Amino acid sequence: MSVDLILGLQWGDEGKGKIVDFLTDSYEIIARFQGGPNAGHTLEFDGIKHVLHTIPSGIFHSKVENLIGNGVVIDPVIFKKEIENLNQFEIDLYSKLLISNKAHIILPTHKILDATSEISKGKSKIGSTLRGIGPTYMDKTGRNGIRVGDIFEKNWEEKYDLLCKKHLKIINSYEKKIEFNLEKINEEFFEAVKKLKQFKVINSQFYLSNAKKSGKKILAEGAQGTLLDIDFGTYPYVTSSTTTAAGACTGLGIAPKDINEVYGIFKAYTTRVGSGPFPTEINDKDGEIMAKVGNEFGSTTGRARRCGWLDLVALKYAIQINGVTQLVMMKGDVLSNFKKIKICTSYNNKDNSNDVFPFNLSKNEIIPIYTEFPGWEKDISNITSENELPKKFMNYINFIEKELKIPIKIISVGPDRKQTIFR
Ligand code: GDP
Ligand code: IMO
Ligand code: MG
Repeated sequence: MSVDLILGLQWGDEGKGKIVDFLTDSYEIIARFQGGPNAGHTLEFDGIKHVLHTIPSGIFHSKVENLIGNGVVIDPVIFKKEIENLNQFEIDLYSKLLISNKAHIILPTHKILDATSEISKGKSKIGSTLRGIGPTYMDKTGRNGIRVGDIFEKNWEEKYDLLCKKHLKIINSYEKKIEFNLEKINEEFFEAVKKLKQFKVINSQFYLSNAKKSGKKILAEGAQGTLLDIDFGTYPYVTSSTTTAAGACTGLGIAPKDINEVYGIFKAYTTRVGSGPFPTEINDKDGEIMAKVGNEFGSTTGRARRCGWLDLVALKYAIQINGVTQLVMMKGDVLSNFKKIKICTSYNNKDNSNDVFPFNLSKNEIIPIYTEFPGWEKDISNITSENELPKKFMNYINFIEKELKIPIKIISVGPDRKQTIFR
C-alpha cells in the first residue's frame, strides 16, 4: 500500500488544508485520522474560500473518496452544518464521503463539560476551542464513548441518556456554572444524527486494506500540529489526540510499514492559538504586523493567533518524532514586509542542552538564540517558479534546509491553490 501522510510540525494552522487540496490529484483516497471540529482547514480556489472542520480536504475533487477515520471525533451538529455549506457545490457527498463506524461521537454535554472545565481552570485554562474534544477522547479512553456504529443500534438512545446523565453529574459538581438548555440542544443533536445516518458508514480499516490490495494511493490528512500532540506536545497545553505520524496508524488502522512519504508542513514563522509556552513569540510591533499581514485569526474560533519567529529547535524535534521525508513551507509571502527576519537556531537552556526540545518550555527556563537574515522586501505572492524567487528569499530557504537536512519540496506564497511552487 502506498500511504503518504501530511501533518503539521508546529502548533496547528500551518496550511494543511491548502496543501492536501493541492496534492489531491495524485491520490484516490484522502483520509482524516484524528482530531475533530477543533480543526479549521482552509482551501482557496476560483475566488472562493472554504473552511472544513471534519470533512477531509480532498472533498472538492470529484474522483477522490474522502474518509473520516476511526481516530476522528465527530460532532453531528457541526457535521450537518458542513454538509449544508457544501450543498451549493456539485459534489456527490453521499458516495464520495465515507465515515468509519468506529469514530467517536461528540455529545452536546461533552461541549458543556469542555466549557465548564475551562472556566474552572481560570488563568491556567488550556484555551480549548470548546468543541468538546478533550471530554470526548476522555470517554473514548475511559471506555464510555458512543461510536458512529452505535447510532444504528436499537438501544443507542438508552446509552446516550446514561452517558448524558453521567456528564450532568460532573457538570453539576463544578463550582462555576454555565447556562444551557438541554432540551433544545438535544433536539438539534438528534436532528443532526439523522443526517449523519444518511452517509456511508463503513468498516474503514477493511476498506483501506482492500484499497491497498488494488493499488490505490492514499493520503492521510492530519489535524492540529506536532506541538499539540497529547504525548509529545507542550503538555498540558495540547489537544487530546495523537497528532503525530503514529496517529495515522491508530486513527486509520494502517500498519507502520505501509507508510511511504511523510510531508511535514510548517509556516515560514510560527503561530499559536490558545494558551501555553511559545519561546519565539513576538510581543512588539513585528508580531502585530505578522498577525495582520498573515491574517492570523483562527479558522474555527476566529481568535487572534499569537505570532513569532521560526523555531528550528522545535522543528527538528517535530521532524524526528514524525520521520518527515519532505518539507512544505507556507506563508513566506507574509515575511516580505520585514527588513530583518529572525530564525531561532538554539535555546539557551538552564541545563545547557541547547538543541534539545525541553520538558519545560516556559520563558523562565529558556532563552531563544537567533540568527538574523536581511528581508527580501518584495512581493512574492505572484511568483510561480523557483528561479523567479528573490535571492534573499532563497537564502532563507537554503539555510532552513541545511539546518533541517530535509528538502523543502513545496513553497506556498499565498492562500490560493495556484500560489504554490513545486520544486
Ligand atoms: P490548517 O489548519 O493547517 O489547514 O491551516 P488554516 O487553514 O487554519 O490556516 C492557514 C491560513 O493561511 C488560511 O487562512 C489559509 O488560507 C492561509 N494560507 C495558506 N497558505 C498561505 C500562504 O502561503 N500565504 C498566505 N498569505 N496565506 C496562506
Ligand atoms: P488545525 O487542524 C490550531 C488548540 C486550541 C488549544 C488546544 C486544545 O486547524 O490546525 P482543543 O479544542 O483541541 O481541546 O484545544 O489546541 N487547537 C488548535 N490550534 N489549529 C488547530 O487545528 C487546533 N485544534 C486545537 O487552540 O490551544
Ligand atoms: Mg486550522
